[in-house]
Amino acid sequence: MLKNRNLIAPTDFSPEEIGEVLTLAEQIVADPGAYAQACRGKILASLFYEPSTRTKFSFDAAMLRLGGSTLGFSDPNTSSTAKGETVADSARTVGSYADVIVVRHPKEGTARLMSKYAGCPVVNAGDGGHHHPTQTLTDLLTIRHYKGGFDGLTVGVCGDLKFGRTIHSLVTCLARYQNMKFLFISPDELCMPAFVKEELDAKGIPYRETTDLVGNISQLDVLYMSRVQRERFISEEEYLRLKDFFVLTEEKMALAGPNLIVMHPLPRVNEIAPEVDNDARAVYFDQVKFGMYVRMALIMKLLGAEPPEDGPSETCKEA
Ligand code: CP
Repeated sequence: MLKNRNLIAPTDFSPEEIGEVLTLAEQIVADPGAYAQACRGKILASLFYEPSTRTKFSFDAAMLRLGGSTLGFSDPNTSSTAKGETVADSARTVGSYADVIVVRHPKEGTARLMSKYAGCPVVNAGDGGHHHPTQTLTDLLTIRHYKGGFDGLTVGVCGDLKFGRTIHSLVTCLARYQNMKFLFISPDELCMPAFVKEELDAKGIPYRETTDLVGNISQLDVLYMSRVQRERFISEEEYLRLKDFFVLTEEKMALAGPNLIVMHPLPRVNEIAPEVDNDARAVYFDQVKFGMYVRMALIMKLLGAEPPEDGPSETCKEA
């Protein structure tokens, strides 16, 4: 039962519960019009203490497409945070106005803290370099669409594995499926943090760490590229030294298998050359669209909104 739950880390939901969200998302993808009133009268508050394009707008679009309303900020300086209000008090306050709160914050643990005070479901839209569970739902829906499931996949994650919260969330979540193998491709300075590797070690899940993308790309079912996270570096010089360590090009794609899919949570900076966008194996812009549908499904589940009873919508029937 997902009604009234929080989603702070991707493993807060069991694989079965994630399956429920993905299945509803697939039903919404098939007939979005049928869900146009599913959350009528409900309000989603999005509190973004850090910049966002996809997560903020896809949550807002999701709620609007469900017939609900949205409020919130993308600049905390327009709120009483600028006057020194604590996140706990902000959560109590916004929870009095909204039915669900979505929060992005630079500090790890903030979403969890807010969930203790809000009095309504809280969704972590990214907390520092820690987790980003709704990006994981997006990624899982994308993988399920292209690969039919998760068991037995070889997944390469490439780039900034140290600060890449989407990667931490995806790997810890995928680790719960059968016969997964992981390849961690990064410069030594940006390798996967211990908290992720310890989870894999505890479950006996195989992974290998390498700096070599070219020599390993042919083995992968999924290549998940990521941006070097400039905003989390202490030294600008170090960022500039590492930012172009991996650039996926047509030449490198020529070494990959025909069934590879290339994913990226976006935004992209320089790590995928624009000409790769035309390759049928590059699915990152489809991933963006799946993000809105999976957030529609998540909002419905957290609010206990019922799916439509009277079958496909008129638009779907006509199509
Ligand atoms: N993928 C992602 O979190 O993108 P935004 O930072 O634009 O929300």
